[in-house]
Amino acid sequence: MNKTAIYPGTFDPVTNGHVDLIKRGLAIFDRVIVSVAPSPKKAPLFSAAERVEMIIEATADLKGVEVEVFEGLLVDHVLAKDAGVVIRGLRAVSDFEYELQMALMNRRLSSKVETVFMMPSEEYSYLTSTVIKEVAGYGGDVVGLVPDCVIPRLEKRFGK
Ligand code: COA
Repeated sequence: MNKTAIYPGTFDPVTNGHVDLIKRGLAIFDRVIVSVAPSPKKAPLFSAAERVEMIIEATADLKGVEVEVFEGLLVDHVLAKDAGVVIRGLRAVSDFEYELQMALMNRRLSSKVETVFMMPSEEYSYLTSTVIKEVAGYGGDVVGLVPDCVIPRLEKRFGK
């Protein structure tokens, strides 16, 4: 059985909800490759390299995590990594439609790629990277919602 899973996303920046999902993935798979999409359409606050750096720091104490940038189609990346499984988080019903669309399109693109959905801890169920940036941008406290290594980077970016 192939025990590598890909956890893709924009991660601008990584949140504790993402880290929670990575940990849940590691309970099932031997290796979780966190794959950072550049996502230029989202006009990210952090460069892909910075996002990778933050995830590496945030998961330094976890065994079996790899972090990298991927370009192009997710299914091509999954097959190139010989993984076969994509992990996605389902936080609320509102996530479902988009996730279903993506999972079915990915299945159409490759029948060799399966999507596994996991629920993050409820304490992070309302988090998105956009909400974090919005709150941090107005000087709000995001301690406990993002890994500690993300805080100084947000402060620097927002001129604190
Ligand atoms: N905890 C906290 N927040 C979470 C979360 C969790 N467990 N899971 C998702 N989110 C948030 C993200 O922070 C993100 O917030 P944002 O919109 O404010 O940035 C949002 O929910 C969902 O985005 P994310 O998980 O980053 O995924 P995405 O939708 O940006 O990325 C890709 C989707 C990159 C996987 C997808 O676009 C892709 O595969 N691209 C490659 C091209 C391709 O193959 N396209 C065809 C796909 S059908």
